[in-house]
Amino acid sequence: MKTTKPLPWWQGGTLYQVYPRSFKDANGDGVGDLKGLIENIDYIQSLGVTGLWLGPIFESPMVDFGYDVSSYYQLDPSFGDMQDFETLLETCHAKNLKVILDLVLSHTSQEHQWFQDSENNPDGPYADWYVWADPKPDGSAPNNWLSVFGGPAWSFSEKRQQYYLHNFLKQQPDLNFHNSKVREELLNVVDYWLKKGVDGFRLDACNCYFHNPNLTDNPVSHGGHTHVQDETNPYFNQAHLFDKSQPENKDFLVSMRQLVDQYDDRFLVGEIFCDREEETTRNYTRKGHPLHSAYNFSLLQNHRTEGSLREPVLKYFAISPTTAWAFSNHDVTRVVSRWPDRLSTALRAKGYMTLLCGLPGLVFLYQGEELGLTEALLPADKRQDPFGENMESNYPGRDGCRTPMPWNGQTPGAGFSAAVPWLPIPEEHHQQNVIAQNENPTSVLNFSRRLLTFRKQEECLRTGNIQFWRDDEQAVIFSRSTSEKTLLFVASFSDALIEIGDMPAALVMQDISEGLSFENGSLIMDPGAHGVMTLKESL
Ligand code: BGC
Repeated sequence: MKTTKPLPWWQGGTLYQVYPRSFKDANGDGVGDLKGLIENIDYIQSLGVTGLWLGPIFESPMVDFGYDVSSYYQLDPSFGDMQDFETLLETCHAKNLKVILDLVLSHTSQEHQWFQDSENNPDGPYADWYVWADPKPDGSAPNNWLSVFGGPAWSFSEKRQQYYLHNFLKQQPDLNFHNSKVREELLNVVDYWLKKGVDGFRLDACNCYFHNPNLTDNPVSHGGHTHVQDETNPYFNQAHLFDKSQPENKDFLVSMRQLVDQYDDRFLVGEIFCDREEETTRNYTRKGHPLHSAYNFSLLQNHRTEGSLREPVLKYFAISPTTAWAFSNHDVTRVVSRWPDRLSTALRAKGYMTLLCGLPGLVFLYQGEELGLTEALLPADKRQDPFGENMESNYPGRDGCRTPMPWNGQTPGAGFSAAVPWLPIPEEHHQQNVIAQNENPTSVLNFSRRLLTFRKQEECLRTGNIQFWRDDEQAVIFSRSTSEKTLLFVASFSDALIEIGDMPAALVMQDISEGLSFENGSLIMDPGAHGVMTLKESL
């Protein structure tokens, strides 16, 4: 008899992205920590998600807020200690929630012991652990590579009288993956956390591990990155042929996958930050390839126009049905502010939540998205993100999507912290707090819970096909179908009533929707209507 293998836990799953500094502060220092997170695991469970992606918690000087790691084996004391981490893992697993860690392997902090040794000891064992290169005869940087965060990708070390490479901040030197000892040690790091029991990793910038050793200049390009925070950033005017997505990169990911496969049910999702995203996704995620899923940038773009969802979703569904989607994260403007319309924020937030819950593959929900939080506009003297500081444009940096969670209506800490929070919580977020939304049956939070729980239970969302019926500035409609049934996901972003008469007549079995109805074969959408309908007849 033919037995069908159960689908892996992550297929069709929803991972809740926790930005640990801003989730909940239990020790009263104004910064979120693991104890605060543990106290609120019930909240995350109540949302109906599969698990969580925990932003970096490793020891770090916090120049890039944890994306600059100074030890892969220690937790940053601001978050807690190993005992706290073990408690977190046990608590989540007891509640059937998976935990994936954010693993930043492409670079370390400048304060990592490896870099210190590498810089101070050019003949020592770590000399070649980072990417060092001599200046050009005129003293300038070895080539034209740029940092994502502004300026050249090279900084000069007075001590070594050489330049070192950094794809991101100068405080984040790139590890030299051409050195086998580096690769070996990083696999030890992966193994250490797998042994601890984590369910997988979100691999930060996982196509940036290797550089071309000939240090060839990148040619000029006319774009290619699907998502750019700051359109004036010169980084996006180069074709990144030599500083990332090198052929050896995949070989390393394959060795990581072989290690991960020695453990049961673990999962790798890679952030592929690339101007050749399509090709690299295909290369890394097609059957038999190293990643289970690739985190896609298409829905994080600055503008939404006709086809903004349909085109990437259909394209990547064909390339890799396990693609991971997100509308918001800790690097981009929150979706309700990034893609404005004439509706109230709450209606818009429910619309995007509906669409997120219907997408194929895997979806990521960023903390606060379930509350419909807007982007915070912070005065310049309160901003902390160095990305903003380093740009010549007016780009304000990423602080606006990183402000702390408003747990209750108390000021100034909103139940996030008894102290002054590390980033201020804007006035409107106080009103969108968790307690207030819990009590309101029509809140974004309660609507999100219904939708997310539906996603978790509905087999059709793990295996079904996707078809788009409409995708323009006014409305997005798509269906997910198996041979037995069709689910119709609808979001109107219009302040006018929309009637769609050319849809095949269908009988609605059940719905989680607001403002939607079927009348005489027409779908009627009130202004800002949204939700999912289960149809009896397959469309
Ligand atoms: C992370 C950013 C981080 C960068 C450098 C990214 O892709 O999402 O927050 O600044 O990697 O590590």
